[in-house]
Amino acid sequence: MAKRKSQLVMLDHSKAKVMLLQKYLEKYLNIIANDGFTKKINVFDLFCGEGVYENNGEGSPIAILKTLKDLHFINKAKNKSITKVDLFFNDKDESKISKLKSIIDEKKLHYTDFGKLTFSSKDYKTIIESLAGYIQGLNNEKAFVFIDPYGYKEIRASEIKKLLQSKKSEVLLFLPTQFMYRFNEKGTPEALIQIIEELVDIKSWKPSLSVYQFIDQFKDALKNYLGRDYFVDTFSIEKDASTVFCLFFFSSHIRGFEKMLETKWQIDDDEGKGWSYEQTGNLFAVYKTNPLEEKLISLLSSNRKIHNGDIYEFTLRNGFLGKHATEIFNSLQANGKLEVLSTNNEKVRKGAFYVSYENYKSSPQKVYFKLK
Ligand SMILES: C[S@@+](CC[C@H](N)C(=O)[O-])C[C@H]1O[C@@H](n2cnc3c(N)ncnc32)[C@H](O)[C@@H]1O
Repeated sequence: MAKRKSQLVMLDHSKAKVMLLQKYLEKYLNIIANDGFTKKINVFDLFCGEGVYENNGEGSPIAILKTLKDLHFINKAKNKSITKVDLFFNDKDESKISKLKSIIDEKKLHYTDFGKLTFSSKDYKTIIESLAGYIQGLNNEKAFVFIDPYGYKEIRASEIKKLLQSKKSEVLLFLPTQFMYRFNEKGTPEALIQIIEELVDIKSWKPSLSVYQFIDQFKDALKNYLGRDYFVDTFSIEKDASTVFCLFFFSSHIRGFEKMLETKWQIDDDEGKGWSYEQTGNLFAVYKTNPLEEKLISLLSSNRKIHNGDIYEFTLRNGFLGKHATEIFNSLQANGKLEVLSTNNEKVRKGAFYVSYENYKSSPQKVYFKLK
């Protein structure tokens, strides 16, 4: 049977997907491999494909291997020893796995002192349970799982939950949201019902007006389903005006989650779609509301005492970074709208908000905020 064109030639949206995977892995591996605590990192690419496409585009396994190789040599040059990283590549299609093996050999992409390299040609469905069990049993080890199917029919939210439950893993899932959304418009088909049914009562699922609205609704449903122990964010990739894919990122660690958000903002900034905050309140500025500013103001309007740690977590859960909240607070403070007080109710130095991971860990209640 002739292969579909989109599965043979690496298209731009696939490049964007692999770029996000690679940039995130660089950050993740660098931090975890040097944390002095983790004994080993396990990276699983469950739908890995053949590695190199006919147009020489490089797929996820090559991105993973190159990232690991770079990390290894950078650390070696600095005389630093790093944690071993075991790689697991799986694809149902045996011929793809054998092609991948020969590319790795030919291009010398892996050395035994990096860690173990394992291949398998199994159906995702048959390995997910044992993989979840394997991750559960890890001791002082971490796992990163990349799930990149052609469609969405095979994937279940409950499987993602199982992979995350040990709190030792992060999951990156790529889904063709546009196709899911299209089906959603026409009336939800069986396969979409199954994945959504796990998340919400299907009767409360609203038809979406755009694919982006669908992604938001789907993300919120995933957040509710997984609960507050987990962090979920998305990165959308537009292949063309009518085709939007989406990467869903899941983590049980706020630090890993922050790295993912940093990667996402880094890519957005490079493409000019990133953060642009225009201060409001300026007489001459066109009034423009920033979505994070709106959310922060609404949070601070509640009767609860909101500390720096709350702001950090809230900001990340909404897909933004601590520096974005700080920028907004700087502006609110400059316009006399924000008061920052220490726990003994003393005014704090201007511009000090303590919205960072370090403060979140060491002093999440250093200061609290009041709207004036
Ligand atoms: C979208 S491609 C993966 C592309 C790859 N991650 C990359 O970046 O180049 C999906 C792959 O999943 C494989 N596949 C399809 N169904 C599968 C299943 N049930 N279990 C495991 N692999 C499967 C296909 O052979 C195909 O190579």
